[in-house]
Amino acid sequence: MATQKVVNVGLLGCGFMGRAHSFGYRNVNEMLHPPAKVVMKCVSGTEPEKVVKAAAADMGWQEYETDWRRMIERDDIDMIDIATPNYVHVEQALAAAEAGKHILCEKPMANGLDDAVAMARAAAKARVKAMCGFTYRQAPAVQLARQMIESGELGEIYHFRATYLQDWIMDPDFPLVWRLKKELAGSGALGDLGAHITDMALFLVGTIKEVSGELHTFVKQRPLMTEFAERGKEKAVGGKKVRKGSVTVDDACMWCARFTNGALGSFEASRFAGGRKNYHAWQINGSKGSIGWNFEHMNYLDYWKDGEGSRQGFRQISATHPETPNWQGWWPDGHVIGYGECFVNELREMLTAIAENRQPAPSFQDGVKCQAVLEAVAESAGSRQWTAVPKV
Ligand SMILES: NC(=O)c1ccc[n+]([C@@H]2O[C@H](COP(=O)([O-])OP(=O)(O)OC[C@H]3O[C@@H](n4cnc5c(N)ncnc54)[C@H](O)[C@@H]3O)[C@@H](O)[C@H]2O)c1
Repeated sequence: MATQKVVNVGLLGCGFMGRAHSFGYRNVNEMLHPPAKVVMKCVSGTEPEKVVKAAAADMGWQEYETDWRRMIERDDIDMIDIATPNYVHVEQALAAAEAGKHILCEKPMANGLDDAVAMARAAAKARVKAMCGFTYRQAPAVQLARQMIESGELGEIYHFRATYLQDWIMDPDFPLVWRLKKELAGSGALGDLGAHITDMALFLVGTIKEVSGELHTFVKQRPLMTEFAERGKEKAVGGKKVRKGSVTVDDACMWCARFTNGALGSFEASRFAGGRKNYHAWQINGSKGSIGWNFEHMNYLDYWKDGEGSRQGFRQISATHPETPNWQGWWPDGHVIGYGECFVNELREMLTAIAENRQPAPSFQDGVKCQAVLEAVAESAGSRQWTAVPKV
């Protein structure tokens, strides 16, 4: 009997995404039985050693490193998972590709299009499998939506309308974290939230030809991180005399788009949408029907079909059927799943791609396509002109 392939993973970063990916690794073998089995070999982080050590034990990793470069040098690691701030992705992905490791890299792929292209080229040259972490695509309802569109059930697509809203930086005393600095994050709401809805649009509707965008920063100065007694503390110490630094990214952005297939798109991403914690929703209108999805109810699709006369109206499809794509391995019909399970599905896809010797979906090339749209939106906001999306 052939022995099952084993993939030893090294995770870079033990923050929010490090924890979410670890949830995925802990569950993927047992729940989804991928053709390659994952081993949680080693995790690294830039936090103090005792914090990284505690995180490794807490999250289920066998070992830890305090310098990510040492992890990439190790012969006993087959795959590198990049869950670090955006500006480090390029250096880490190039090093991982050079060392012949498979790569899973969080979104946005990089701070700019040139870096993303370099990462995709390096992965292709090294012939490694490379995935970009657009996690929300892994929700079964989203995969079902794609199946419905591809089969022609919705007819010609007219509209894609998406919003991704949060409110975590509305307090002007919230500190100048890495996400608010252009040199570390590349952009603000655009690359963070806008990247997800752009990937949805590219996945569900197709290529975007041109965009007209607007970026805005509501709070331009914020307390420096050094003014905070501890990382993550919500209020600066020192009252009104706190030293501040400039926010160099957008707090909110909006853009219109034209798809190559003639569809129209509208997009909004904001970190200033009071009361909205993670409101990620889209609607698609086609000539034969409409569908809508809202992450807060991620197991369902709203569906309207033309031609139902006096019985017309939106109904709710439960995307928990044994035949629903990406549902396989989960629970009996109707026993819903959540955020964490999207990461488990993401890892099943990556491990299956490694075992089947093919690129995973979404691939680094999908990450590059998304980055090209983000770049065009930023350029359009600067020039105040419709801007063509670079061909990549
Ligand atoms: N897929 C999603 O839905 C999703 C959600 C949130 C964040 N993200 C992406 O995940 C990535 C990480 O975000 P996060 O929220 O986990 O950030 P975070 O700040 O919570 O954690 C970042 C981790 O990176 C490590 N790190 C920081 N600077 C480093 C450096 N210079 N070199 C090496 N390691 C370093 C630290 O160990 C830290 O724990 C970002 O690219 C972000 O856009 C994706």
